[in-house]
Amino acid sequence: MSTKCEMKLCVSLDLPSAKENLALVQQIKDFDVWLKVGLRSFIRDGKNFLKDLKAINPNFKIFLDLKVHDIPNTMADAIEEIAKFGLIDMCNVHASAGQTAMKNVMDRIKDIPNRPLVIAVTALTSFDNEEFKIVYNEDIKTKATKMALDTFNANIDGVVCSAYESFDIKKNTSKEFITLCPGIRPFGEDVGDQKRVADIAFAKENLVDFIVVGRPIYKAEDPKEVVKKILENI
Ligand code: C5P
Repeated sequence: MSTKCEMKLCVSLDLPSAKENLALVQQIKDFDVWLKVGLRSFIRDGKNFLKDLKAINPNFKIFLDLKVHDIPNTMADAIEEIAKFGLIDMCNVHASAGQTAMKNVMDRIKDIPNRPLVIAVTALTSFDNEEFKIVYNEDIKTKATKMALDTFNANIDGVVCSAYESFDIKKNTSKEFITLCPGIRPFGEDVGDQKRVADIAFAKENLVDFIVVGRPIYKAEDPKEVVKKILENI
């Protein structure tokens, strides 16, 4: 299991069919990138899709973004099954499931050889402060930093957060504690439904370990060029 040493690009495979996702991956197969398989692809295409990705380039690292959130035992069962695939390098849970659940997950998989990294979602990047307060009764930054500390103390490997929280989270936990940040618009592209977006320079300044980029790549006319340009800039 390796953690990190430099900022990595994680490409979101959120296209409407396996065929389109695989065509995108074919275009970027020679780059050192992580691939993010989310709910849409996994529900539709399952484990075979993961094997198809590895068949294109066995060196691709796969982040399975299912954001598991349930009672402690069910969460541990789910993450154990993911770890047993032997195909997944990183997966995630929701920090709001609580510290007991997160500890349970880590205890369950700690002895599995080459276990995936497990990170926890703090505040979804689609929240603005107003809506977040309605749900959590606190402002995003304060709550996300608290959740990250709970996560760190539960032996989880890192968090999903926005680039705006990355620096404070590392300051309050450890430099080695992974921050993975969606809501990245590398060169100021359209934000879509994301509220707290950041560009590459901001992510770097805030010590982000992984940037997650979806639409700016897969909706581009030339996704390969965009990936190349992003990698040159990180
Ligand atoms: O297209 P875009 O770059 O906005 O895609 C971001 C990806 O990251 C989507 O797959 C989304 O589900 C995921 N994500 C997110 N916010 C989180 C966790 C995951 O946007 N907190």
